[in-house]
Amino acid sequence: MDLYEAVYNRKSVRHYKMELLPQEFFRNLRKFEQGLQPFDPELHYSVELFNAMDGEARIRGPFRVKAPYYMVFFSEPGEYAMVNAGYLLEQIVLYMAGHGVGTCYQGMAKTAGLSGPAGMEPVMVVAFGYAAEKLHRESFRAKRLPLKDLCVFKEDSTEELRLMLQAARLAPSAFNRQPWRFIVYQNRIHVFVRKEQRSLRAGRGRNGFDMGIMLSHMTLAAEECWRDIEFARKENLAARRMQGSRYFMSVLLV
Ligand SMILES: Cc1cc2nc3c(=O)[nH]c(=O)nc-3n(C[C@H](O)[C@H](O)[C@H](O)COP(=O)(O)O)c2cc1C
Repeated sequence: MDLYEAVYNRKSVRHYKMELLPQEFFRNLRKFEQGLQPFDPELHYSVELFNAMDGEARIRGPFRVKAPYYMVFFSEPGEYAMVNAGYLLEQIVLYMAGHGVGTCYQGMAKTAGLSGPAGMEPVMVVAFGYAAEKLHRESFRAKRLPLKDLCVFKEDSTEELRLMLQAARLAPSAFNRQPWRFIVYQNRIHVFVRKEQRSLRAGRGRNGFDMGIMLSHMTLAAEECWRDIEFARKENLAARRMQGSRYFMSVLLV
């Protein structure tokens, strides 16, 4: 299963077998990770894997899932650090789903005692390992808002746009809040983000992380259609609002 297929089949896994994964899996994962395209190439980051069965990682937090392994994404600070983290981690999550390994993002996790490279902070934790429940789900079973609630179509939609928006719609998000909204033209999609609830604002800018996940899905769908896309922030749209959402950035089909 490739990454694009995994967009349609991945689900969060919350029950794990406390079993080792083979060394070959980790070797191939490293190779895959080294070939990843970041959202923001300027930002340094590091993905560290911890074996919780060895006691290497003590992950705590209110919605923590008990798993044999945890992956921690460390990043330099930066305006797009959370978007970049979501964009990259989701590709790893999809890779794992395609290679028989379950994952679950751990948004509120505390990584006490874990330190990453100098100058980097932990921004997200992902539990992973062999699933003790179903690893995949058919996409129609995913609880998501319908495209008609997410999009305003300003021009007739094309097949490519439809695939990109379907992939975006299936992106996982914290508490399944699906903070994205879209204004759709044939050659561009203006992306809007819902305002964060006050109670979650302290949660390290999770909307930015969710948006990064969603943009990685759109990128994979565009690649599937052999279309190049670019991300651009249009300052003339910065003040625009859509259904209580603020302008985030535009995806240009080039
Ligand atoms: C940023 C982020 C944080 C999340 N944090 C948690 C968490 O702490 N515990 C948990 O069980 N699920 C967590 N999730 C999983 C979401 O609840 C899940 O992705 C969403 O409900 C959609 O379901 P699906 O992943 O099965 O498609 C998180 C997801 C994201 C994207």
